[in-house]
Amino acid sequence: ASHSASPQLLPPPLSSVPALCVGPRLLPFQCDLSGLWRNELGSLMEIDKVNDAGEFSGKYLTAVTATSNCIQSSPLKGAQHDTTQRSQPTFGFTVNWEKFSNSTTVFVGQCFVGDKGKETLRTMWLLREEVGSPGDGWRATRWVTGHRLARMRVSLEELSKGRDEFSIAGNF
Ligand code: BTN
Repeated sequence: ASHSASPQLLPPPLSSVPALCVGPRLLPFQCDLSGLWRNELGSLMEIDKVNDAGEFSGKYLTAVTATSNCIQSSPLKGAQHDTTQRSQPTFGFTVNWEKFSNSTTVFVGQCFVGDKGKETLRTMWLLREEVGSPGDGWRATRWVTGHRLARMRVSLEELSKGRDEFSIAGNF
């Protein structure tokens, strides 16, 4: 005798299981760049809320400078791919150092989620310093690949209060 399957026993349509298609993300907010990040040099980067178009702004406090000037927190602007579509999105941003330097740095990178859900940004950067003429261009650019930033679970405001319970050691 033929019998029709009970609707409750049917597997859900694949289209309703997006998690199968987007990879190893454990939590919905992962790799959304908003928050505080620290790199292996000790530089801090705080990114404000990422908007619906993936655009963001924030500030970068570098731990090092090629100038002899006093380092100041500097504005950054960038964009990242949609974290609802991709679990390990790429991104790019520019830091304008004009408060203490004539240079500009652009970063490109990708956010990775490790086995235990730890997010790490792998980037490369290109820095252009101002020189007097195109002929001096040969010494105007510096770059590094394999830069890493780890997420910190505090805000810059909390850090700057100097509260002991917050370690600023990033976990790479
Ligand atoms: C300058 O020295 O002209 C401005 C500061 C540049 C800091 C660079 S940007 C790439 C690298 N990563 C950092 O966190 N700081 C350095």
